[in-house]
Amino acid sequence: MSTKRSDGNKALFTPGPLNCTLSVKKAMLRDLGSRDLEFIQTVKEIRLELLRVAGVGCDEFTALLLQGSGTYAVEAVLHTVLPRSGGKILILVNGAYGRRMQSMCSYVPSIEVVVLEFGEDEAVCEAQVENLLRESKIEFSAVCVVHCETSSGVINPIESIGRAVKRQRPECVFVVDAMSSFGAVELDLRSAGVDFLVSSANKCLQGVPGFAFVIARTKKLLLCQGNARCLSLDLLAQHKGLEGDGQFRFTPPTHALLAFRQALKEFWDEGGPAARAHRYKKNCQIIQDGMRELGFRTLLDKNKKGADGYIISSFRFPDHPNFNFEEFYKNLSALGLVIYPGKVTRAPCFRIGHIGDLNAADMERLIASIKIVLKEMKVENLDAKEE
Ligand SMILES: Cc1ncc(COP(=O)(O)O)c(C=O)c1O
Repeated sequence: MSTKRSDGNKALFTPGPLNCTLSVKKAMLRDLGSRDLEFIQTVKEIRLELLRVAGVGCDEFTALLLQGSGTYAVEAVLHTVLPRSGGKILILVNGAYGRRMQSMCSYVPSIEVVVLEFGEDEAVCEAQVENLLRESKIEFSAVCVVHCETSSGVINPIESIGRAVKRQRPECVFVVDAMSSFGAVELDLRSAGVDFLVSSANKCLQGVPGFAFVIARTKKLLLCQGNARCLSLDLLAQHKGLEGDGQFRFTPPTHALLAFRQALKEFWDEGGPAARAHRYKKNCQIIQDGMRELGFRTLLDKNKKGADGYIISSFRFPDHPNFNFEEFYKNLSALGLVIYPGKVTRAPCFRIGHIGDLNAADMERLIASIKIVLKEMKVENLDAKEE
């Protein structure tokens, strides 16, 4: 039995790369020159559309596009906002992507890093952030946090964290990695006091991979002159290029941008952020209900704050002698269904993503196939204890 999609591809229950519609992929089957007026116009439109998705205006914010995956853009923000003379940064960590920001800073010895760490299965606590900022004598230049910690699926309360940051440190730059949430999880940038938000083309906006973007508060970005420690990740220079002649400084991902223009059109045709959230929530519900029925337990305790995320779910390995993740993964992949390994350090887990061009029928197909694969593996009668 194969459960491949109608376009012949496997269904990717992963947080990127993820499935794109055929029409998005078809939109990139063209060559465009980087100085071509149509291309420059496309870049301009995409930048404005991103501000529209973010719910902000170009009077206050600017949308910057950067070649590479999401990590490049997060690193670009850190290098651009932290002063060369040695910035001080507070990183709120509750999973692998928060830790990745910490790791980025470790490459620059002049940066002083303070990490406030939380459990991998819990949300960042805004009260603890506020206490630290109130008590600490350190003059932080930036506070950074992840919106949806994709390693577990937990959603951090960005608006209350941002308000706490701005109450205690109004001058501090507030950076949010919203890689896997932007466009599908509500976030009011203004009331959260977000200065830099990062996401990428191949997440909830369902473009093809190839570039990332930053929604930046223009006033804060313009203060970053002279900070960047390397040429290609200098976001202020990227801004000047895009605002000047409308071009990227270096070879742009033309095909990925054409695909993204189509992806944005399909985003609004579907109904915008609310409709996308609705579809992903439904996908998540089907997976969580189906998996619980099969006897699996989620990593996150559904009664805890932040556990209501609907981007990706982490499931604990079942306590059964015949369960082997590699075999489980391979058998599902042979059926055309790709799941994702776990990324938390303290519990053996795997993950199922709910984003991309997937709908209820895909989710039901996955649950039905998991049932078959478990039977083949003789992993039966799992008994999920209520969390
Ligand atoms: C929250 C978060 N931050 C950063 C990244 C890194 O993005 P990329 O793999 O595109 O570099 C990811 C990837 O899934 C992510 O989910």
